[in-house]
Amino acid sequence: MAACNEITGFSQLGRSSFLPGNRSFLLGSKQNRLCFVSPALLEQRRRGRLRSVEKAAATPVVATISEEVVKLVAGKQQQKLKVRAALTVRRKLKEDLKEVIVNQLDALSDKIGRNVVLELISTEINPRTKKPKKSGETVIKDWYEKKNVKGERVVYTAEFDVDSAFGEPGAITVVNRHQKEFFLEGVVIEGFACGPVHFPCDSWVQSTKDLPTKRIFFSNKPYLPSETPAGLKELRKKELNELRGDGNGVRKLSDRIYDYATYNDLGNPDRSIEFARPTLGGKEIPYPRRCRTGRPPTDTNMVAESRIEKPHPIYVPRDEAFEELKQGAFSAGRLRAVLHSFIPSLIASISADNHDFQGFHHIDNLYKEGLVLKLGLQEHLIKKLPFVRKIQESSEGLLRYDTPRILSKDKFAWLRDDEFARQAVAGINPVSIERLQAFPPVSKLDPEIYGPPESAITEAHISGQLEGLTVQQAVEERKLFMLDFHDIYLPFIERINAMDGRKAYATRTLFFLNPIGTLKPVAIELVLPPAQPGATRPSMVLTPPRDATTNWLWMLGKAHVGSNEAGVHQLVNHWLRTHASMEPFILAAYRQLSAMHPVFKLLHPHMRYTLEINALARQSLINADGVIESCFTPGAVCMEMSAAYYKHHWRFDFEGLPADLIRRGMAVEDPTQPHGVRLVLPDYPYADDGLLLWSAITSYVRSYLQLYYPDSDPGRIRSDSELQAWYHESINVGHGDHRDAPWWPPLDTSDDLVAFLTTLIWLASAQHAALNFGQYPLGGYVPSRPPLMRRLLPEPERDADEYGAFLADPHRFFLSAMPSVLQATKFMAVVDTLSTHSPDEEYLGGTREGPAAWTADEEAEAAHRNFADEVAAAEEEIKKRNADPTRRNRCGAGVLPYELLAPSSPPGVTARGVPNSVSI
Ligand SMILES: [Fe+2]
Repeated sequence: MAACNEITGFSQLGRSSFLPGNRSFLLGSKQNRLCFVSPALLEQRRRGRLRSVEKAAATPVVATISEEVVKLVAGKQQQKLKVRAALTVRRKLKEDLKEVIVNQLDALSDKIGRNVVLELISTEINPRTKKPKKSGETVIKDWYEKKNVKGERVVYTAEFDVDSAFGEPGAITVVNRHQKEFFLEGVVIEGFACGPVHFPCDSWVQSTKDLPTKRIFFSNKPYLPSETPAGLKELRKKELNELRGDGNGVRKLSDRIYDYATYNDLGNPDRSIEFARPTLGGKEIPYPRRCRTGRPPTDTNMVAESRIEKPHPIYVPRDEAFEELKQGAFSAGRLRAVLHSFIPSLIASISADNHDFQGFHHIDNLYKEGLVLKLGLQEHLIKKLPFVRKIQESSEGLLRYDTPRILSKDKFAWLRDDEFARQAVAGINPVSIERLQAFPPVSKLDPEIYGPPESAITEAHISGQLEGLTVQQAVEERKLFMLDFHDIYLPFIERINAMDGRKAYATRTLFFLNPIGTLKPVAIELVLPPAQPGATRPSMVLTPPRDATTNWLWMLGKAHVGSNEAGVHQLVNHWLRTHASMEPFILAAYRQLSAMHPVFKLLHPHMRYTLEINALARQSLINADGVIESCFTPGAVCMEMSAAYYKHHWRFDFEGLPADLIRRGMAVEDPTQPHGVRLVLPDYPYADDGLLLWSAITSYVRSYLQLYYPDSDPGRIRSDSELQAWYHESINVGHGDHRDAPWWPPLDTSDDLVAFLTTLIWLASAQHAALNFGQYPLGGYVPSRPPLMRRLLPEPERDADEYGAFLADPHRFFLSAMPSVLQATKFMAVVDTLSTHSPDEEYLGGTREGPAAWTADEEAEAAHRNFADEVAAAEEEIKKRNADPTRRNRCGAGVLPYELLAPSSPPGVTARGVPNSVSI
């Protein structure tokens, strides 16, 4: 073999494809190579290192060199060898003129020395200097030559001269002396005998004028902190320090600092007192922390952070921002277009006649004929938003929505009680239903303020509807269920009902389990706050209708339940329990876990774009006068309700699916099951499918963690400094308002770590998908689930005229209680967008591809492949379940299949698909 007389390195280049993504190790023949194994590596082996490193050590070659070179080294002379780097840079799909010009200038200045400088860092220490061995600096050599290359990705090359005793490369530093940042996807180094070394980057490399320090990228080999090779120890700390920042200053968009702040940026007190909002987070109003931006305070309130208004973006660390350079920006771009351009046009078009729908046909027309927007819409907007069409030869636009799926199979299903009940277990918010464990239901609110705690629902209201059972028997036989929004709403009802055009009750709905496994509503309780503290609450109990009048009242009652539910779904279950609660864990992960940490590698796909979508939400969705306040009944108190749930009910140990089901009485413990529970309501599509995915995530996390924290060495978790720092910072800072809660689980054993990580992955993927992607398909028909109610039920004692109007025209009354045309169309546009999958969405169990493999650990990759198989099997099982006529909550005449937890999906609004992360 030719290599035996030369330094193996550069000579290999001719034989390898040298393409990013070529992960094959180029193993030479052992017979004609001499391999130097570093003393550090030998020491690691002697100590019986982790299996992953052992496997890597199967090719522990630092450099393979000839016998002549051995003599040179023995004679204390170092031989140089050449290795080559391929850097994959991703370009923007569309660049404006200014960017094109700067690119050309950068290419020219590159030629005269303002270039991109690279240096390789060894995993080893130089025994003489006690510092990491370095290659010496080199530059990307073909930037100028490739200035006109077209394509999304451009591969640049560089060459390094390294000493023969360099060891294995563990990191590469990059300095960008150009004017403009560039997006580095990955680097592959070839020429070392151990084969190509991959450096996954996926990061913006800033110009030195914005960020003077060198960027550090580590190879894809996972290392626990205690096993960091000597040459990388300092760099590992340095990189984390940079990501943490010093907690001061206003963040620039080019920064990459992850830090914490309270939600003190939702209000805009400078605009007027009406737009002031309390700070969420802190002793008074506990809340998770969000990403710190460091903006100065407002003029009128030193505690409130000043706002950045659209279209200027809110700071998120540079690599968290959605980018136009890939289609990942598709949904986000559309959301921005809706929030920043479409809604203002909509308001300008129809706010002057902010009228009620004139009949159900008027709502239907939104899907058929469409609504003419008087104001012309810009061309780019029309292209981006599928529900806006241009009227030919006119400056007017036509607003025409897709028919929500919930209407597509049975237009009238929403009117039926069985469908109302079915949606509690297979709808957009299937996580509020609970089993009634004692009758009557009781409030936990302070009776001194809210009066006697017992519900007004009596046995007489429901006993005739229980298939011959007494209420007590029905409770004991686990046949009574409840949607209970009483305690979360009642403290806010007075303020809500004082708002113009907002009316709400605190509701409870009881359901009976039919012998065939479906639920039927048997009573709805509508509660208002007491007139004086401690007095009895005014309350109305509705039971299934018997005549025309009670039919309409029942429909209005169900609409109020739907409106309560829409608020809890959006503010609590969707926003708080997935989006907002994940953010501190993500901030802490970037601050405390090195990119080399195996837990960081596991979590990385589940953190994608969450900070950015949450920032966009703070800017335009959950802010004062934002979309959520304007479209949901609680209006200005929306976020206070969200915070009240966090304060009184949120517990991390109940956020995993099995624990949540047990808390709600929907499952009992069953050690014979892989997930440890048995459903009380067997045909509960969300929970039934959710448990399949929960089990798959658990077994993946368990098998992955075994590679790094084997049961044979139980002390590893406690002694992992980064892991413990991450966990404790997440609790003590990110969720610091609950830091003293007794329910935080310990993080001592592998079972603890499996449970913790499984819960996070579950929340980011399946739980979010179940709560997010049905928003338009299942919730886009406003009468079925009004996000906002404008009237209480008519009562002759309260307002005889209003009652008379109701009797005379119940249709009109019903529609006047619904959202207005503007409120409804705005809501529909936003939830349609939020329900959309991007074309490049990354789904649970999907391949983790890139120019550099996410991990060099083949067993970790194998664990991920097994996970993919298990997820695919879950998908097949879900398909079968949806075709099973005995499962009446997902199969039957006109019944929508339950696909929100079917893992894969094409792009668009599909009501299925489980992305890896909270990204929309
Ligand atoms: Fe979401």
